[in-house]
Amino acid sequence: MSEIQAKPVFKPNKEFSKNARIKNMCEYHELQDWATEDYEGFWGSFAKEKITWIEPFTNTMDESNFPFVKWFEGGKLNVAAQCIDRHLDTRKNKAAIIFEGDRGDKQVITYLDLFYNVNKFANLLKNEFGVQKGDRVVIYMPMIPEAAYAMLACARIGAIHSIVFGGFSAEALKDRIEDAEAKVVITADGAYRKDKPYMLKPVVDEAIDAKSPVQKVLVVERNNEDITWVAGRDYSYNELIKHQSTKCEAEVMDAEDPLFLLYTSGSTGKPKGVQHNSAGYILWAQMTMEWVFDVKENDTYWCTADVGWITGHTYIVYGPLAMGATTVMFEGVPTYPDAGRPWKMVEEHKINQFYTAPTAIRVLHKMGEDEPGKYDLSSLKVLGTVGEPIDPPAWKWYYEAVGGSRCSIVDTYWQTETGGHIVSPLPGATPIKPACATFPLPGIMAEILDPQTGERVEAGEGGYMCVTRPWPAMIRGVWGDNERFVKSYFGDVKKDGKPVYFTGDGAIYDEDGYITITGRTDDVINVSGHRMGTAEVEAAIKKHPNVAEVAVVGKPHELKGEGIFAYIVLKSDSGIADEVEEVKAINNVIKKEIGNIALCDDMVFVSGLPKTRSGKIMRRILRSIAKGEAITQDISTLEDPSVVAKIASTVQSCVI
Ligand code: PRX
Repeated sequence: MSEIQAKPVFKPNKEFSKNARIKNMCEYHELQDWATEDYEGFWGSFAKEKITWIEPFTNTMDESNFPFVKWFEGGKLNVAAQCIDRHLDTRKNKAAIIFEGDRGDKQVITYLDLFYNVNKFANLLKNEFGVQKGDRVVIYMPMIPEAAYAMLACARIGAIHSIVFGGFSAEALKDRIEDAEAKVVITADGAYRKDKPYMLKPVVDEAIDAKSPVQKVLVVERNNEDITWVAGRDYSYNELIKHQSTKCEAEVMDAEDPLFLLYTSGSTGKPKGVQHNSAGYILWAQMTMEWVFDVKENDTYWCTADVGWITGHTYIVYGPLAMGATTVMFEGVPTYPDAGRPWKMVEEHKINQFYTAPTAIRVLHKMGEDEPGKYDLSSLKVLGTVGEPIDPPAWKWYYEAVGGSRCSIVDTYWQTETGGHIVSPLPGATPIKPACATFPLPGIMAEILDPQTGERVEAGEGGYMCVTRPWPAMIRGVWGDNERFVKSYFGDVKKDGKPVYFTGDGAIYDEDGYITITGRTDDVINVSGHRMGTAEVEAAIKKHPNVAEVAVVGKPHELKGEGIFAYIVLKSDSGIADEVEEVKAINNVIKKEIGNIALCDDMVFVSGLPKTRSGKIMRRILRSIAKGEAITQDISTLEDPSVVAKIASTVQSCVI
């Protein structure tokens, strides 16, 4: 049984609560009770109210083929129209996107501008490239407005986008292109980071070989660096877009037509193509924007994520635009030219809601503790965090120095698979505790269960974070692999004999029923809020010809939350003379196979790995050694117990 310490409680700001959509915990409980008593009535009612349907749905939910669940069947809509067209009557001249480039260049894109830009983009894809409903389009883009146009253009014509984060390597991009059988890639020549141009198009060139399904590549010319153009395959967006009409009829889509794929790490070496469908996803994206950030008509909202991750999908593009908000998009890095950049932007754009990751908060705290005090941050009302557990010191600084002890911090817990937040404070209602995701959102039947019994755990006892009923934004499938979908999410925990959705995270209730997420229970590590499968990193390292065996684990990291720690057994005949060179060589393989985001923080060469007699690597021991913890596990069952002491002496920090 693990203990959880009592944490201080911070009540919402009274003035804020008065005008909030959900004003107090009574209102929260009323909503949650409604959902508990009449689940379909709850969701059906919000779906009718929030979505502009082309044709109304006839059936709220069909779970007869669980976990293949259908929401809002019979309903027809278009997600791009939900995000743009329906706002044109009232918000034509309102800023939809405020863009700020790395170098400080700014652009305001109104809802009418967005409508024209997306329609032209959609016509380009349809008419010049022959993209049709259901086709997959890979987007490999920097954080520029054209990335949002590309997503919405796909949604407008019913193509399924799959965004690949710009930090992934050519190999990683290639795998994702091939798995999705994408026929088009949208990219940019490059973009700017820390005032310097960097390139993306050469990575795309490397990812496409003669066998690739890709027929066309569209290149947004952002930094006009020299790139290679392949005749008949590569086209300039800047040229083609000039000739497109601003009228493009939105494709009529079924509620359950796929909207996008987003590849994420799991416990095997191969990333999963998480599939989200149209109506359920956009409904929850919009509802959580309204409830969790409580964005008002004249507010300006900024989420610092990259569109390459789910946070960028739901909370830079789809959620804000579906509710008709003004969303800020930022190309640069938060510490350039100095650690005051985000606060300067808050002051300049009068940002009301600011949403970022604990890693960014830790870095900004470390590099510029006093920077927030230099700017007028009085516009801020709600601060958000996402992606990894936030530690109390970072929370405190965020609350006091950035939020002036006046703003609620919404510690939003969710995942690529959940589409939107599932456990989070409501800023006008929930008394918050530092580093605590608090309660399930209304409509989400999230519970911490005992994996053995499927019973709800008692306060102070750790358990598995599960969702016991399907919700509209739940993952609809793993692209091309139904079996993996069922096995990955619905195999581990049963409640009342029925499988439930298991997030892969551990969690704990405190005495007041507050939920704190304790981290992954599987072989996924969370590096700067980015999910990395240990198996994926191991598979990359194994490609190095000198490597015989490898085991990768996570290790606490001061800034990144978790760092990557690799134990490597080299082949006996590898004849390595220089370990430093070998580390470099292996890191180069990781860079090539996955990208810089997966580089190891620690790499140690060991003579063997701790294995059971059946050959299973005992990662718990390796995790303890990496952390410098005493080994408390029974090692007598290992094939060769002496290996533990050998590894520990190699890793200097270990106390055995
Ligand atoms: O371990 C949880 C952690 O991030 C994982 C999901 O990663 P990904 O699908 O990349 O999505 C990140 C953005 C939603 C989760 O399984 N996580 C996410 N939010 C929190 C968190 N851990 C603790 N607290 C959070 N607020």
